[in-house]
Amino acid sequence: MNKKKLKFAVIGCGRVSNNHLKALTSGKIDGELAAICDVDGKKAKAKSEEFKVPYYLDYHDMMKKHQEIDVVDIATPTGYHARHVIDVARYGKHIIVEKPMALRVSDCDAMMKACADGRCRLFVVKQNRFNPAVVSARQALDSGRFGKMVMGTVRVRWKRVQSYYEQDDWHGTWELDGGVMSQQASHHLDLLQWFMGPIESMQCISATRLLDIEVEDTSLATFKFKSGALGAYEATVASRPEDLEGSLSLLGEKGTVIIGGHAVNKILYWKFQDEQPGDMHMLSESSQEVPNVYGHGHSPYIANVIDAIVNSKPALVEAPEGRKNIEILTALYESAALGGHKVHPGCTVVKSLLGQKPA
Ligand SMILES: NC(=O)c1ccc[n+]([C@@H]2O[C@H](COP(=O)([O-])OP(=O)(O)OC[C@H]3O[C@@H](n4cnc5c(N)ncnc54)[C@H](O)[C@@H]3O)[C@@H](O)[C@H]2O)c1
Repeated sequence: MNKKKLKFAVIGCGRVSNNHLKALTSGKIDGELAAICDVDGKKAKAKSEEFKVPYYLDYHDMMKKHQEIDVVDIATPTGYHARHVIDVARYGKHIIVEKPMALRVSDCDAMMKACADGRCRLFVVKQNRFNPAVVSARQALDSGRFGKMVMGTVRVRWKRVQSYYEQDDWHGTWELDGGVMSQQASHHLDLLQWFMGPIESMQCISATRLLDIEVEDTSLATFKFKSGALGAYEATVASRPEDLEGSLSLLGEKGTVIIGGHAVNKILYWKFQDEQPGDMHMLSESSQEVPNVYGHGHSPYIANVIDAIVNSKPALVEAPEGRKNIEILTALYESAALGGHKVHPGCTVVKSLLGQKPA
């Protein structure tokens, strides 16, 4: 018997939407695309023709017309996520929102309240958690193979050029985007806390070295985790002449894993005191080639959301995990605005401009 597939609508037909649209039209997951929306008619029409679904310029029109929709997948500029999630939650449909969840913790809270009021679930995209290399490392962590954690490190060295920031009016702005920390490295900061656990304190400095943008193109941070372990973060979009890496290193008393590649997609080092038969194949079997820094994770991510909805169970990344990421990001921006002062997650942000229009 054919299983009923959940029906999806996608709002926002820009760069990342392809990963959603391809996953939803692949026939490989229990979800299918019913409609799409973008305020830019050209983009909406082009995707409508490519993916053979009706398009809308206003998501209210789409929601009224397509009552059959089960899940709305939002891939609009970050600074609009809160408004769009809160609006859509009124229709009582489950929602996926792209990362980062929002730019302010208060917005995350408002989004979660709107979804609770609308009796719908809110999921936040963190597709890198589904990379086979990351899944294998997480299994090693959960089965205690690292022992006591010593240090976790993430590094993002990507190339973005001026034209990337000039093709729309939101990238590189305080109000709608933030810099490398919130736009590119939010994934890696998510992985760092997911593996290393709650953060006690952090210190961050940032700079704008090569790009003519309001926000930072380069930043560094150190972390002290509640476990006592330490963490380090380094990110830039001013890597030249090309993208170099998006990586995660996990060092424990009984073993070390280094995952590299452009998109945390290749196991570069995997060694534990308690050797296991699968270890020797880990480098080849858990590594993937990726076409770009978005990787292949959107399809398994959406499949996990569908499984969670259909079987009424938790998904790997729901709103509270997305909110944790924003607590960390806003604290890092606060520390950087204060010249590298020590801050704590959930600190009251007074100096950071993230999510605000500069005066
Ligand atoms: N998971 C990932 O790896 C990944 C990669 C890239 C971007 N993202 C995130 O996805 C989001 C979108 O990024 P992008 O690079 O695709 O941006 P983009 O600018 O290419 O696309 C955003 C689209 O949203 C549309 N839009 C704006 N307001 C709208 C509205 N009210 N109704 C309908 N459509 C509207 C715009 O016209 C645009 O086409 C951002 O939050 C970004 O951080 C995630």
